[in-house]
Amino acid sequence: TGMFTFDPGFTSTASCESKITYIDGDAGVLLYRGYPIEQIAEQGDFLETCYLMLFGELPTPAQKADFDYRVTRHTMVHDQMNRFFQGFRRDAHPMAIMVACVGALSAFYHDSTDISDDKQRMIASLRMIAKMPTLAAMAYKYSIGQPFVYPKNDLDYTSNFLRMCFAVPCEEFVVNPIYARALDRIFILHADHEQNASTSTVRLAGSSGANPFACIAAGIACLWGPAHGGANEAALKMLEEIGTPDNVAKYVAKAKDKNDPFRLMGFGHRVYKNYDPRARIMQKTTHEVLAQLGIKDDPLLEVAVQLEQIALKDEYFIEKKLYPNIDFYSGITLKAMGFPTSMFTVLFALARTVGWIAQWAEMIEDPSQKIGRPRQLYIGPDKREYVPIGNRG
Ligand code: CMC
Repeated sequence: TGMFTFDPGFTSTASCESKITYIDGDAGVLLYRGYPIEQIAEQGDFLETCYLMLFGELPTPAQKADFDYRVTRHTMVHDQMNRFFQGFRRDAHPMAIMVACVGALSAFYHDSTDISDDKQRMIASLRMIAKMPTLAAMAYKYSIGQPFVYPKNDLDYTSNFLRMCFAVPCEEFVVNPIYARALDRIFILHADHEQNASTSTVRLAGSSGANPFACIAAGIACLWGPAHGGANEAALKMLEEIGTPDNVAKYVAKAKDKNDPFRLMGFGHRVYKNYDPRARIMQKTTHEVLAQLGIKDDPLLEVAVQLEQIALKDEYFIEKKLYPNIDFYSGITLKAMGFPTSMFTVLFALARTVGWIAQWAEMIEDPSQKIGRPRQLYIGPDKREYVPIGNRG
């Protein structure tokens, strides 16, 4: 009972006011703080995007240098973290490790769990942006049984991450600039996406006053699902399963079949009812990376291109306005760089951390902020008398 609006999936409820990200799903427009995603992805870098997210404006060269330095200072994780990892089985999904380790940061950095202190909030933000690549690389190294590689802070953010993932001790390692640029772009494209499920989770967790590390851990847990961040992993697995362009039609038919739960992973979006602008940039980046690496006939790319062409011409997909989303192409690029599919969602979490943090900070600083507390429409039994166990059945 009660006069509440019933809105499952919150398809028509605005949960907050926000100045960070604007999406026009019908037009396929995405702006970060007013700047078109295409321009940022083409001309900016990921740490500049982080600055823009956190402070609302693009940095001057001096501000950018200072910000890069401040993030870089926090890339190390406490040595005790190493032992934390040893508790996991080697075959643990790296997302399971990320949920645990990021939540555990609150046990290491008590000072920045004080959310009433502006300075500490900023330090917590910088710590998370800086430590996510280190933790993500550790999760990867652990899963393949290689020793952890420590951050090398004279490298840029993304090159440093690639080195922590792919270098091995006692061997020279040179970061491939094609990979670094492409991955940095992937990070930019994933940095924020207004009130999606994981961001709403972070806000809801934060609305109770929980510390930022715990809130971001909650966001990572939500992102893991295949309908959300897990879609990049699911999309690549699907392309591998389809295998060759001749199989595409069969899978498209499966996706259209009402009695088959199969969906085309990397297709469809709650907000975009037009081409996802991030997918366009991602598609271009994928072609560029493969071309620069001299990969001419990548079978997965052929399947993806074919699938996209068939689906975009199909009545079902046209009618339901289902277009490729960002996750459709990102997996092919990540795979070409050497990342296993189990790391794809971790990379998404790494990039989305700044969006989560910016949204969390915006909420904390909003004087109208209240604890998030949705209501429900109760459909259970009416009031009834308790029957002692001896009198039942
Ligand atoms: N393949 C086939 N049919 C689909 C698909 C798909 N990928 N997506 C939606 N539909 C159909 C769905 O069956 C439904 O049909 P009907 O109206 O006849 O029941 C209709 O389209 C509307 O779908 P919905 O599930 O009600 O829409 P939603 O807004 O709740 O879901 C979505 C959006 C992204 C969860 C969904 O499109 C989906 O499951 N896509 C595949 C997973 C995916 O790629 N997710 C990544 C999203 S982008 C990155 C991110 O958010 O992390």
